[in-house]
Amino acid sequence: MLEGWAGSKRTDYAGEINLEDRGREVVLAGWVSRYRDHGGLIFVDLRDRTGKVQLVFSPKAGAETFRAAGELRGEFVIAVRGRVVTRSPETVNPKLPTGQVEVVVDELRVLNRAETPPFFPEDEEVDEATRLRHRYLDLRSLRMQGALRLRHQINMSIRRFLDGAGFWEVETPSLTRSTPEGARDFLVPSRLTQGSFYALPQSPQLFKQLLMVSGVDRYFQIVRCFRDEDLRADRQPEFTQVDLEMSFVEAKDVMELTERMLADLFRAVLGRELGTPLPRLTYHEAMERFGSDKPDVRFGWEIMDLSELVAGSDCGVFRTALGAGGVVKGLTVPGGASFSRKELDELTGVAKAAGGKGLAWIALDDKGHRGPIAKFLGAGLLERVAGRMGAGSGDLLLFQADTWPVACQVLGSLRLRLGQATAQRGRLELLWVTDFPLVEWDEEDKRWTAVHHPFTAPRDDDVALLEREPGKVRSQSYDLVLNGVEVGGGSIRIHHAELQERLFRLIGLEKEEAAAKFGFLLEAFRYGAPPHGGLALGLDRLVMLLAGLDNIRDCIAFPKTARGHCLLTEAPAPVEGKQLAELGIALPKATE
Ligand code: AMO
Ligand code: AMP
Repeated sequence: MLEGWAGSKRTDYAGEINLEDRGREVVLAGWVSRYRDHGGLIFVDLRDRTGKVQLVFSPKAGAETFRAAGELRGEFVIAVRGRVVTRSPETVNPKLPTGQVEVVVDELRVLNRAETPPFFPEDEEVDEATRLRHRYLDLRSLRMQGALRLRHQINMSIRRFLDGAGFWEVETPSLTRSTPEGARDFLVPSRLTQGSFYALPQSPQLFKQLLMVSGVDRYFQIVRCFRDEDLRADRQPEFTQVDLEMSFVEAKDVMELTERMLADLFRAVLGRELGTPLPRLTYHEAMERFGSDKPDVRFGWEIMDLSELVAGSDCGVFRTALGAGGVVKGLTVPGGASFSRKELDELTGVAKAAGGKGLAWIALDDKGHRGPIAKFLGAGLLERVAGRMGAGSGDLLLFQADTWPVACQVLGSLRLRLGQATAQRGRLELLWVTDFPLVEWDEEDKRWTAVHHPFTAPRDDDVALLEREPGKVRSQSYDLVLNGVEVGGGSIRIHHAELQERLFRLIGLEKEEAAAKFGFLLEAFRYGAPPHGGLALGLDRLVMLLAGLDNIRDCIAFPKTARGHCLLTEAPAPVEGKQLAELGIALPKATE
């Protein structure tokens, strides 16, 4: 019956067989996951993308089938015809969703043999390089299939929602000019115009704005973006954005739409309710309370301002900072009084790495208070400080005396380092951070740079400060944060050519340079640009967090390593001299 098998005869997926199928004849196809030869009977776990089911081969199926079953090995590709039977109570496998049944095979067809693979998909302790080198084996595992499936479901949910909300999916070019998202570009040499290069887009930012000028009104795209930057656990050189843009809107409209899209996704894909509206913190408040512009609020541990309280103290470290216009801030580490000297030294290292000058601490315990600055505070003040910080015996107090941003940032790092482990697993805490500064001072280059990107609009009430006090100008921007990870960001854009030129000037883009780089956008703005704004979600990061993964590579089918390599195809790779010659490119001798 399985003669001439071409796949069309399959009746069921392995992982979906259950008690209701009792007595049915089924045809299944997939990979041999495990086999056990018990002499009289042979047991095989058959795997497909839905899961596994146990197959049973007995001599009753005929000598030929039984002999062939004896030759099965891991990852052979097979098709079987058989009957679903209930397992006897003592052989039920509670770990398998199909564990109450098994399939007694009447007919077996080996569709393909497999050499012994370098590892089996279900193996747990395989190093990542090996998994990436043979990604097709790794992807066969139910864990990876689950991540791919979740990602597909999220994509579909987003597409359905945005279609329903009147968005059009419009594709934008991958061979384009440099876009200013702040990372390094990947360049593609042009053969027809030697010496000229395309840049792969860091995002479709300029095109989506042009689509608004084109009257598209509501655009979206699930789109690949390219950034040549140093990679981390939540970064890839090519990654995917859910990119959207809307005309005639304000920030709150984009945020509300995003919230509805996420609530819809949570319900449809995760079966969870998302409480909306999401909490909104201004950038200032996020830094002040959590020491981060992407706060993880799955745990409390808020940073306290102590500047006023300790203003009169004898502590030199505090007085110096306050005298210079800085602040004193504190963080309570519950139960931290028991930290060893070594642990405290490590924390001082963390503080210094985050830009602090040191780390002042006081351990509160019944025997007395310990720490380098305890004696300068005095019992009365120390009690008031501990009271403000909600701390008691057994707790550790950490202090930073510095400028506002440094003090916030350093305690923010310590808060994450010490507190994140207390966050409950499975919790999902989403929030908005708004009103970022429009520009920040780049000490190295001695110039102002855009915090988001240079098309972000300043708040109307701050426009007048643009030339006078640029550092004080807040933008109409918003970042979406999930469990302390930035999963999205966007803004209302500048839509007047004059204001755009003022901003370019502020960030040191002179008229000619601005015209050369973005002349086409400035020109478009002169022919009737509607007010517009939008946002982009980092899809990979979103999937990573919703799937409960620690690493962005685990939700990407074919990811790159930290060095930007694809271990499967071995890209990037040298090319032949002939190809380079066609492009008019000559490599320096050493790299040829
Ligand atoms: P932004 O640069 O903030 O905004 O990017 C949007 C989101 O994309 C994700 N992301 C990344 N994910 C994985 N690997 C990377 N290397 C990487 N870089 C960014 C983040 C981030 O929040 N054009 C604007 C959006 C807009 O203004 O509408 C933009 O690209 O989750
Ligand atoms: P010092 O007065 O330099 O001996 O520092 C006393 C303690 O304060 C040491 O534990 C330092 O690590 C710490 N410290 C130094 N500078 C700062 C600062 N700006 N903020 C917080 N702690 C500091």
